[in-house]
Amino acid sequence: MNVRSELVEIATLHWHGFHLPAAADGGPHQPVAPGETWSPAFEVRQRASLFWYHSHAHQRAGPQVYAGLAGAIYVRDDESERLDLPNEYGVDDIPLVVQDRAFSSDGSFVYSASMHSRMMGARGDTLLVNGTVDSVFEAASDRLRLRVLNGSNARFYSFSFSDARSFHLIASDGGLLERPLHSKSVLLAPGERAQIVVDLSDGRAAELRARSAGNMGMGGGMMGRGMMGRERLDGGMGGGSDFGVLDILPGISRRRGASLPRQLVSLPAADASVAVRQRRFVLDMGMGMMGGFTINGKSMDMQRIDERVPMNEWEIWQIENASMMAHPFHIHDVQFRILDRDGKPPPAGEQGLKDTVVVNSRESVRLLLRFEDYADPDLPYMYHCHILEHEDAGMMGQFVVTR
Ligand code: C2O
Ligand code: CU
Repeated sequence: MNVRSELVEIATLHWHGFHLPAAADGGPHQPVAPGETWSPAFEVRQRASLFWYHSHAHQRAGPQVYAGLAGAIYVRDDESERLDLPNEYGVDDIPLVVQDRAFSSDGSFVYSASMHSRMMGARGDTLLVNGTVDSVFEAASDRLRLRVLNGSNARFYSFSFSDARSFHLIASDGGLLERPLHSKSVLLAPGERAQIVVDLSDGRAAELRARSAGNMGMGGGMMGRGMMGRERLDGGMGGGSDFGVLDILPGISRRRGASLPRQLVSLPAADASVAVRQRRFVLDMGMGMMGGFTINGKSMDMQRIDERVPMNEWEIWQIENASMMAHPFHIHDVQFRILDRDGKPPPAGEQGLKDTVVVNSRESVRLLLRFEDYADPDLPYMYHCHILEHEDAGMMGQFVVTR
């Protein structure tokens, strides 16, 4: 399929991770026809972090994001700027938008519409970072902050340095973690973001790599869990399961950096007892069948409201995965907290603000959330799998926030 053909159809602009009125959300109910202008207005009321925008056109998110309708957004605030963290955009604070693509011999993108791509999600054999390949960055400081967005349609990646050096994880999707977390790798599913700070004071080149983490079968790819077995399954698909992301060359006269603050922000404890009700969402896919992508047995229907959620009330959303594949579950308009995975507390890197969460095969993940400020009885927000081909095939539902 030629990519240029994708640019003459209805698209949307969704603000992934933003808290905003449903009318400004940019989901499938805010279509923008070719030649039209859409001018949403909203106040940014949330913590600083890396967010993104992308098309959310009904049943066309996959091909449109693949064709390029996506980008990164920085939100800044005073609280995070006051901290002694690298924050000079393009100097010591770099966004890395990571997306795999396949190319045809004339250099255009190839978006596969095969049954395999529908089931597994579209994958390419080349990794683009901010739209480029084989990226090199000369660092002007000893401490480099990398804001990583997995903007791929379907691939999960485990990021680490080729010399196995450790770094500090400082932020999850929706904001800074309470404390920097010493780590050697971080796993991101489509839609997820992480911010890391890497120390270059030893003067040696550092290479950030992304290993395509399999997401078939049980026993997830989350931090600290075994990924063996799933790697094997993934290795045979799409080729090239280990990608270079960024070659970092420490500059000769680098600025020195102090050590990281011990405390970054403070977040309220994620306390399940504040919840007044619980909802259950079961993700499933019928292997090999068209229209088999469901949440609670239903495929996406733009005319149907699946959930009505009262504003300002704490709820627990329990996400269960009945399929053989891991799915990143995303909810619009909110940053939630992960209470537990199969009853066990999430790893420290998942204890901050999240808007997308991996739910592994046969796993049950409980989220704590509350919708604030904006209610609209008619206009829905979405929740869905962020493997875009699954979203397009119907693994999505709609909720309204009511007063
Ligand atoms: Cu990033 Cu509903 O999407
Ligand atoms: Cu999925």
